[in-house]
Amino acid sequence: MTQDEMKRKAAEAAMEYVVTDSIVGVGTGSTVNHFIDLLADIKGKIEGAVSSSEASTERMKKHGIRVYDLNEVNELPVYIDGADESDHYLNLIKGGGGALTREKIIAGAADKFVCIADETKLVDVLGAFPLPVEVIPMARSYIARELVKLGGRPVWRDSFITDNGNIILDVHDFEIMEPIRMENEINKLAGVVTVGIFANRPADVLILGTPEGARTVYSK
Ligand code: 5RP
Repeated sequence: MTQDEMKRKAAEAAMEYVVTDSIVGVGTGSTVNHFIDLLADIKGKIEGAVSSSEASTERMKKHGIRVYDLNEVNELPVYIDGADESDHYLNLIKGGGGALTREKIIAGAADKFVCIADETKLVDVLGAFPLPVEVIPMARSYIARELVKLGGRPVWRDSFITDNGNIILDVHDFEIMEPIRMENEINKLAGVVTVGIFANRPADVLILGTPEGARTVYSK
């Protein structure tokens, strides 16, 4: 089974978390694209969605799914999104697609965060995937130097501007043994908009697509 087929399995299993007549929080990425396509089949049974990126908004609108601004929404029972890595406590690295800031906002606003991924994303220690950090453009060099002091090797993501008009530094060589401490440490640097560690608000449920089907993982 291909990695994309495993992503599809995870997206299919996430459908059971969608709450009828409610607004669904929708993330970004190739796994979530499968979820959006499945959501289209039941669009008459939901009120609509809030979106974490322009790309997901466009895909949902093409399917005729109503997309709300988060400010218009009082209750968000569930947020479905992918990840670049998850540890066994469901701390995540996200932002491979560059949508980490809006993703973190919606994850925070949602009652339940369901993460969907193929089984290769589950790791013992976060950090093999370069850690995305969204940065205000004028702070790029300063933040890069600070990230080097923390032991990382930041690389400016080529020709990429986020939906918020900022740049991304992808930080290699971090072994993230204490995700909450590291998230707080990087977030407090002036000029950082968001770091792609989701540990203060981890996922509640992780659904992994595997060749045998979908497997649900709860925090250790
Ligand atoms: C986007 C993300 C994605 O969830 C993450 O990159 C996983 O993507 P994919 O489902 O394509 O593997 O955080 O910012």
